[in-house]
Amino acid sequence: MPDNATLEYNGQKFEFPVIKGTENELAIDINTLRAKSGMITLDPGYKNTGSCESAITFLDGEKGILRYRGYAIEELAEKADFLEVAYLLIFGELPDKERLEKFHHDIKVESTVDEEMKKILDGFPKSAHPMGVLSSLTSALIAFNPVSVNVSSEKAMYYAIVRIMAKFPVLVAWTLRKKMGLPLDYGDDSLGYVENIHKMMFKKPNKEYVKNKIVIEALDKLLILHADHEQNCSTSTVRMVGSSHAGLFASLSAGISALWGPLHGGANQAVLEMLEAIEADGGDTQKYMAKAKDKNDPFRLMGFGHRVYKNFDPRAKIIKKAADEVLGDLGIEDPVLEIAKDLANEALEDPYFVERKLYPNVDFYSGIIYRALGIPTDMFTVMFALGRLPGWIAQWREMRLRNEPIGRPRQVYIGENLRPFVPLDRR
Ligand code: CMC
Repeated sequence: MPDNATLEYNGQKFEFPVIKGTENELAIDINTLRAKSGMITLDPGYKNTGSCESAITFLDGEKGILRYRGYAIEELAEKADFLEVAYLLIFGELPDKERLEKFHHDIKVESTVDEEMKKILDGFPKSAHPMGVLSSLTSALIAFNPVSVNVSSEKAMYYAIVRIMAKFPVLVAWTLRKKMGLPLDYGDDSLGYVENIHKMMFKKPNKEYVKNKIVIEALDKLLILHADHEQNCSTSTVRMVGSSHAGLFASLSAGISALWGPLHGGANQAVLEMLEAIEADGGDTQKYMAKAKDKNDPFRLMGFGHRVYKNFDPRAKIIKKAADEVLGDLGIEDPVLEIAKDLANEALEDPYFVERKLYPNVDFYSGIIYRALGIPTDMFTVMFALGRLPGWIAQWREMRLRNEPIGRPRQVYIGENLRPFVPLDRR
């Protein structure tokens, strides 16, 4: 395999090293392209651009492979819990019992949020979208933790990470409780990480919290499956914002905003809204299949297709099984979920979807489980954010530890050339 790639332009040849990843992925290192040739590359949407070297998540979209730190997602979803996976992603290795207990203990110590934050939450109308509230609250946390983390101190890094792992679920729970008109809750230190999140979200003031094993396991699995996905839109945002040396919380808040969009994390909400709209319109899935295929119709089948998976999304396989189990165990019969099944079956056999390799993605099934668990539709993307938190942290930490330069893409300018200013009275 040659070590260099040659670019030829206008009779001149330019050589660039070829970098090989541990899974034999090849990349042309164009660091010196502009200096050597005066040219840049153009790649809208970054479909062919690697923004960094990373040791966190490996994804092969063609083969449908997803691994965190070398461990297959299938194995992690089956054998690990969310907190272990979070530790693995952030620090690079699975924790031993002692490290995991310490991590959990340290999180518990930090799991209160300043009471003044409630005033900020109070300022939002009940109708506010939970993602906007969560992004704002995460940003507001900076005011209560104003010292920027010293990234050259391992200890300072660790405690900044513990702090956000502890406080973020409280913000998530408060966002939901505000929406549902429930008093704010701080959870219970004697519970597991995910169990406590569930309690903080759903405990009624007049009722004892009763743990439901099926629900907690499904939630745990969903969080693991969402925990990282290499350089997607929100993660790239976190790395980009962090590259200016803005703090961890500020970078995360920006990531939440990026995740909100319906083409990214917001798809899980969009899926359910689409299914409800199909039901309200008589439940004719074929009509909506036809709309999705019609190039003159902007309608897309939400929850289908993926930027990098041109094969079945491996997370979708795991989650489909979990969805079937949860619906079965909870004895849920729901016409909207029947529509989802019909739509998935039809799309899997339809030439338009087959030829374009448009399979149901993780968000198609996650929305179904969230609905079964009684989570309001506009909280779905917040649940995604909760799962993605360790991935964002891991990517931010890696970026800072590798001392990556500030992210600053270039452009090809296509505007007006220099022209004289025209005074107002002559325009
Ligand atoms: N319904 C109908 N047609 C589709 C869909 C869809 N959901 N997705 C892609 N296509 C068509 C698209 O029209 C195009 O057709 P043609 O080649 O004839 O022009 C072809 O498939 C390729 O699509 P693309 O837009 O070039 O693909 P992309 O890689 O830029 O976009 C995507 C990926 C996820 C934005 C897109 O598939 C989509 O909009 N899906 C629906 C939204 C969704 O479910 N997003 C969640 C992604 S998973 C969660 C996450 O990781 O954030």
